[in-house]
Amino acid sequence: MAPDSTISSCPVEDVEAVLQGMSRLIASAIDRNIPARSTHSQRVAALAASIAERLGLPSEEARRIYFAGLFHDFGKLFLPSNILIKTEPLSEDDWSFIELHPQLGATFLERIPPFTSTAKDVLYHHERIDGRGYPRGLSGEDIPLGARIIAVAGSFDAMTASDSYRASVKQDIACDTLLEDSGTHFDGGVVQALLAVLGCRR
Ligand SMILES: [Fe+2]
Repeated sequence: MAPDSTISSCPVEDVEAVLQGMSRLIASAIDRNIPARSTHSQRVAALAASIAERLGLPSEEARRIYFAGLFHDFGKLFLPSNILIKTEPLSEDDWSFIELHPQLGATFLERIPPFTSTAKDVLYHHERIDGRGYPRGLSGEDIPLGARIIAVAGSFDAMTASDSYRASVKQDIACDTLLEDSGTHFDGGVVQALLAVLGCRR
């Protein structure tokens, strides 16, 4: 029996379970480079999917954004780990490496058929609404919605995670910070959806 026919004879739910399991394994490998953030990508994926659902996106789109969240830092697998684990301020040279990770991740993912559609969200997850992000300096709705969602979910998790290498802040303070940065760094509608998901009243 050819390998392809073995896969195609599996129940759809088994294929999905394998895809999800392998994807979480890859996400663990991404975060392994930053020991203090061992499940960051999985939390970002779950939160991004919840935001997408709150925004009323179809379930298939929320699923796609979940995978984009799992792989948003895929490119960090290809960066020197001594930069990723640094706790002191990064130098200009360090930043020039770090800023390569969205492009590196997108370049690989767009070649892997189940994840091709996640590549653009991965590429643009460090863009800012005011156009001051990287790698392209896109602004407003030129930034794909999935990337805007991952930016908010990722920043919230980086601020609040108890396994963060920085001192974590309480959820309310993180929500206030995201609100203050709405319209400059973050998409205001996406931030409001996050607040609704978390039950943060403002
Ligand atoms: Fe990133």
